[in-house]
Amino acid sequence: MRTQVAIIGAGPSGLLLGQLLHKAGIDNVIVERQSGDYVLGRIRAGILEQVTVDLLREAGVGQRVEREGIVHHTIELVFGGVRHPIDVHGLTGGKVVTAYGQTELTHDLMDARREQGLPTVYEASNVTIHDFDGTRPTVRYQKDGASHEIACDFIAGCDGFHGVCRQTVKDSVQEFEKVYPFGWLGVLVDVPPVSPHAIVYGNSERGFSLCSMRSMTRSRYYVQCPVDDKVADWSDQRFWDELRRRLDPELAARVVTGPSIEKSIAPLRSFVAEPMRFGRLFLAGDAAHIVPPTGAKGLNLAATDVKYLSGALIEHYREKSDAGLDTYSQRCLRRVWKAERFSWWLTSLMHRFPDTEGFGQRVQEAELDYLVNSRAASTALAENYVGLPL
Ligand code: APR
Ligand code: PHB
Repeated sequence: MRTQVAIIGAGPSGLLLGQLLHKAGIDNVIVERQSGDYVLGRIRAGILEQVTVDLLREAGVGQRVEREGIVHHTIELVFGGVRHPIDVHGLTGGKVVTAYGQTELTHDLMDARREQGLPTVYEASNVTIHDFDGTRPTVRYQKDGASHEIACDFIAGCDGFHGVCRQTVKDSVQEFEKVYPFGWLGVLVDVPPVSPHAIVYGNSERGFSLCSMRSMTRSRYYVQCPVDDKVADWSDQRFWDELRRRLDPELAARVVTGPSIEKSIAPLRSFVAEPMRFGRLFLAGDAAHIVPPTGAKGLNLAATDVKYLSGALIEHYREKSDAGLDTYSQRCLRRVWKAERFSWWLTSLMHRFPDTEGFGQRVQEAELDYLVNSRAASTALAENYVGLPL
C-alpha cells in the first residue's frame, strides 16, 4: 500500500490530523493497535479551548460540539470551605471553554472518517516504522496473521505516551519528567452536575477535588487519592462521602449521587520529549508530552500540535515549502512548555502534598488568597485556562 502520510494511532491526534489532511486533498492511512470500540471506551478529560472547537469546525466535525457542548464562562475555586468564582469570560475579554467529552469528540471524528471511506487499520499488531531519515519511510504491521507494509512520504507519530514512535527514536530524545506523589480517582455518573455553570476545583485539608460534567445529565467527579490505592478500595458510598467532605457545605448538600458507570485511578505526570521531529517522522499529542489533568490541557495541546502539523504538511504539498515542517518542533514546544508550566502550577496550588511542611502549606494558602483577590493574578489564571494565543 502507498499513501502520502501514514498516521500511527487513532486517538484524537491521529483522527483529527487525518481529517484535516483529507480536507486538503492529502491521502492518509491510520494504523491503530486497538479496536475502535476499545479506543472509544477510554474516559478522559472533556474541556475544550476555543482553538480546539475552531479546529473541529475546520475539520468538518464541529456540528455536534456546537450543538451539545456546554459553554462555561466561569470556574470556581473552593478552599477554606468557601467558593470563589473566577469569571474567565470577563477577565479574558469574552473567551470561554466548552465541556464536551473526549469520547464524543473521538466518536465524531471516527464517524466522519468512516463516512468518507478513509482507510483505518484497527487491531494492527507489531507496528514498526522505518527509514524516516531518508526520503522513503515505511510502516510495517501485522493483521490477521499477515504482514503488511505502507510506503509513505511522512509518518505522524500520534500513538500516545506508550506508543512505538517515540520509543523508536529514544536515543535522539531528551526527556523531561515530573511524577506527582498522588493520583486522581475519577467517577462518571448519570446524575445532573452539582455545578452546571462552572467547573469547580477544590483544595481542602483532605486533598483536591474536582466537579465537572459531560452533559446536563452526566457528571464527572474526581478526588485526589494515594496513587497505589485500588479502585476496589473505593465503594461509591466512600467516594461520595469523601467528595462532599472536600467541598463547601452548600455545594456538598447539592451533590446528587448515583451508581458510578466508570471508576478509575490515574497517576499524575508531567512529561516532555524534545525534539518532536526526526527527519520525516513527526510526534504529536501524548506521544510527545503529558500534562497532569489539572486544567485539562492534554487534549487541547494535542489539537494544537495537529493544527501546526497539518498546516506544515499542506504547505509542503501545495506550496513546495518546508518552512512549516522545519519549525514544527520549535513552534509546538513553545506552546507545550507554557501548558506544562500552567498544569504543574495549578496542580501544585490545588493539591495536598504528603511532604509539604508547614511553610509550604502556608505559602499555598497565601497564594490562593492572592489569586482570588488580585485581578492581575485571576487574569493570569483565566488566560491560561481558556488557552494562550497560538
Ligand atoms: N501502534 C499503533 N497504535 C498505537 C500504538 C502502536 N504501537 N501504541 C499506541 N497506539 C494507539 C493507542 O491505542 C491510542 O489509540 O495510539 C493512540 C493514541 O491515542 P491517545 O493516547 O488518546 O493520544 P492522543 O491521540 O495524542 O490524544 C491526546 O488523549 O490522553 C489524552 O490527555 C490526552 O486528551 C489528550 C489526548
Ligand atoms: C473532566 O471533565 O474530566 C476534567 C475537567 C477539568 C479538568 C480535568 C478533567 O481540569
